Amino acid sequence: MKAFEFYNPTKLIFGKGQLDTLKREVPNYGNKVLLVYGGGSIKRNGLYDNVLSLLNEVGAEVSELAGVEPNPRLSTVHKGVDICREQNIDLILAVGGGSVIDCAKAIAVGAKYEGDMWDFVERKAAPKAALPLATVLTIAATGSEMNAGSVITNEVTQEKMGWGSAYAYPVFSILDPVYTYSLPKDQTVYGMVDMMSHVLEHYFHPESNTPVQDGFCEAILRTVIETAPLLLNDLENYEYRSTIMYSGTMALNGILNMGLGGDWATHNIEHAVSAVYDIPHGGGLAILFPNWMKYNLSVDPERFKRLAVNVFNVDPAGKTDEQVGEEGIEALREFWNSIDAPNRLADYGIDDSQIEVMAEKSVRFGPFGNFKKLNKEDVIEIYKMSL
Ligand code: NZQ
Ligand code: ZN
Repeated sequence: MKAFEFYNPTKLIFGKGQLDTLKREVPNYGNKVLLVYGGGSIKRNGLYDNVLSLLNEVGAEVSELAGVEPNPRLSTVHKGVDICREQNIDLILAVGGGSVIDCAKAIAVGAKYEGDMWDFVERKAAPKAALPLATVLTIAATGSEMNAGSVITNEVTQEKMGWGSAYAYPVFSILDPVYTYSLPKDQTVYGMVDMMSHVLEHYFHPESNTPVQDGFCEAILRTVIETAPLLLNDLENYEYRSTIMYSGTMALNGILNMGLGGDWATHNIEHAVSAVYDIPHGGGLAILFPNWMKYNLSVDPERFKRLAVNVFNVDPAGKTDEQVGEEGIEALREFWNSIDAPNRLADYGIDDSQIEVMAEKSVRFGPFGNFKKLNKEDVIEIYKMSL
């Protein structure tokens, strides 16, 4: 276990009926609120009206930035920064999924920076201040509601990159699973693949003596695997929606990461794909993760065996660690197939024509991954395995 510091200031407000706490929380930050949301799902499921009426009750003055894209774009961030400056905004309230929240995080730091916030993404500068940001989450997936990360797409340069800052933590996040009932099956699946991938990114680490961390990871994976088919047959079930929502937050709020560091190569490889093809993040991960695993099985077969036995109940008797590990990877692939997650890049009509371009994007900051350092040639191999 590595030495570590843990810091997470986000107040997590979870459960049915918790939207009402907006009335208690919002006035702590001022009166002028920028409401940030996506393409309209919150209008269709009633959340928009409910949020506005609660904000009205506390006399908030509300400006709006609507239409944040899945895979949020830099130009939308710029629009939000302009509104914050023109309207002297006190609090940004992101109501939506990871894309809306990530966009709002970028607006929060961008509003307090004289240059272009893309400088933060390119590591040319670091945020030194931010407007307070709060969230109402509508999709269990990224963990953005309780972490300091954000992923932004620069549509001009076709780059999609993550950045992070302690200034980007939401001050509070409200998670009412009822507002995820309207999430369609495909997005529900992408979200579950994403949270499982976050756990796996932590699980494949080079540290030793991490039994508690490994056990937390395995518990979340087993829970999502057990709950997924039940939820997909009963999308408005409160118990299942809340289990998945809690799993998504726990998978990437820093708790699993204590003493580890994680790998994060597959995320980097996926972001390069969605930068070029604008595919859903969870869909890309379902295709790429099993192939990253196959490619790296020999790095630490014992760790793959542990996953296979403890999560997928593979019987290890009479088999080598590599064989058991391989069965675990196949079990993961089969599980994702069973919930209709995509399987190959071809499922999105992606062929080999942009592999070189995507691999080049992925190594923008040099070789990456902590479990195994990958260079451009490694990434090309993983893309080829995924065609
Ligand atoms: O735009 P609207 O109309 O709201 O529709 C959204 C969108 O089309 C819809 N949706 C969300 N909640 C809904 C709903 N539809 C019906 N009912 C609801 N309750 O779902 C679609 C996808 O939303 P999006 O926010 O894009 O999904 P997600 O939360 O998976 O976020 C994906 C983005 O987050 C980044 C990804 O790369 C991607 O850009 N990530 C952010 C991370 C972070 N900040 O920590 C980590 C992740 O690994 C990830 O990279
Ligand atoms: Zn992810």
